[in-house]
Amino acid sequence: MSFAIAIMAAGKGTRLKSRRPKVLHEIGGKPLLRHVIDAARKVVPARDIYVIVGHQAESVRAAVADTGVRFVEQKEQRGTGHAIQVAAEAVSGYTDLLVLSGDVPLLRTETILKLRDFHTTERAAMTILTATPADPAGYGRVKRRSRGPEPEHHGLAADPAAVAEEAPGWDPASGRTSDPASDQVECIIEQKALRGSEGEIGEINTGIYAFATAPLFAHIGALRANNAQGELYLTDMAALLVKAHERVLALKTGDAGEVLGANTIAEMMELDRTLRRATTARLMANGVTIFQPDTVLIDADVEVGADTVLEPFTQLLGATVVGEGCLIRSYSVLEDSTLAGKVTVRQGCVIESSTIGQGAVLGPYAHLRPQSVLDEGAYVGNFVELKKARLGRGSKAAHLTYLGDATIGSGVNIGAGTIICNYDGVDKHETTIGDGVFVGSDSVLVAPLTIGSGAYVAAASCITETVPENALALGRSRQVNKEGWAAKRRSMAARRPNPPGH
Ligand code: UD1
Ligand code: CA
Repeated sequence: MSFAIAIMAAGKGTRLKSRRPKVLHEIGGKPLLRHVIDAARKVVPARDIYVIVGHQAESVRAAVADTGVRFVEQKEQRGTGHAIQVAAEAVSGYTDLLVLSGDVPLLRTETILKLRDFHTTERAAMTILTATPADPAGYGRVKRRSRGPEPEHHGLAADPAAVAEEAPGWDPASGRTSDPASDQVECIIEQKALRGSEGEIGEINTGIYAFATAPLFAHIGALRANNAQGELYLTDMAALLVKAHERVLALKTGDAGEVLGANTIAEMMELDRTLRRATTARLMANGVTIFQPDTVLIDADVEVGADTVLEPFTQLLGATVVGEGCLIRSYSVLEDSTLAGKVTVRQGCVIESSTIGQGAVLGPYAHLRPQSVLDEGAYVGNFVELKKARLGRGSKAAHLTYLGDATIGSGVNIGAGTIICNYDGVDKHETTIGDGVFVGSDSVLVAPLTIGSGAYVAAASCITETVPENALALGRSRQVNKEGWAAKRRSMAARRPNPPGH
């Protein structure tokens, strides 16, 4: 037994009305196609996954190239059947082929495994993964062989799901029916081709299949484009194989939610919502408190430790990992960042590709730009911006500060309004500040610069040269007081006649 997985991703997605290829639209913070690849990679190694690309092939390839999958190019998109014809050369050396759709992103690995196992133990030529969603409109329908003439009551069938439930003794756990004969499929009928009572079939084709490659490629050349779209439909393989006396079976999944496709933006956002609800449910089950969970935006791969509290309207995006016992307050956005335990992120912070140590405190309104690091117990207060800057253990920058391209030691105090001038208009320069340094408020530190440990910088200094350890650096002009100056000025003003019109 050798399995390959083909993922059909060459279509344009005309119904989206978007310039971006459908499979690169994102839900849960990841392109549709990447969700499918991630599930597939848990079933076979990446080298056995063949992504069929066509429309904007280059950008689709580039978006998932890092996964190590292979690509097959379908230059003209002449339908799902044609997509698999094009892949024939690449995959016919395997005994079996699992076919997934790039636009059915919520499919779980367990379901793919169930399909594979059912298909192999049944020695089927084709196994179709089916479901009975609440609304089957738009999907191809699966006509099982045992389905006799439609009984009377279908005329008033209000609940299409009830019709499909009739497959005798269907067991939601295994997806199988008690009568093996009724697992057999006669054909798949596309929505536009449904006639009469066929419209009441509630069991849909999920677009996910397992094939034995020998019968598949022996007969795939017989597909014809004599249908509404003028395309070669992979779905027609069911009837073709039945005609050739091959075994074509249906395996129904109990969770219709995971096999829904996304043909429009609205459908895609519905999947996004389903996915995010599953993510918040997963986190809450692991001990995370999420107030008003429908208001937070948490991407699919985010991890959060127990006893962390997320307030409404927080966003945890990309590869973000939050430790235990943290507090993330409202309107904070964390992207691709790692937080240790007991971190407090006050309201309105933006944290991008940064690392934050145990017990650090941020905000409100702090901005960590990429590659910033806060060591244990560090504190950045309101309107503080860091870029590629490391703030050592217990160091503080409490107000209105910019720290860029800087390495700052532990126990440092950066006064309000301190600015590091890291950019001279051409190049960026580094600043190093030793342990225990005290930088007075409103100082300007011009890089490249080193301030030795234990040094003091007087408030409002402009520092351009190295400050030795334990020194006091004063980079400002001396203050001059002119005694009585103000009183004199006021009396002179009083003696002057008022100018006309004043
Ligand atoms: C397809 C099925 C339908 C099923 C539904 C489930 C066919 C004819 N119909 O319909 O029975 O209920 O999926 O979601 O297969 N693609 C290519 N090359 C092509 C055409 C399409 O790679 O030439 C890709 C698309 O990018 C997409 C997938 O195949 O990822 C399915 O194509 P799509 O046009 O969305 O098919 P549906 O109309 O959804
Ligand atoms: Ca589709």
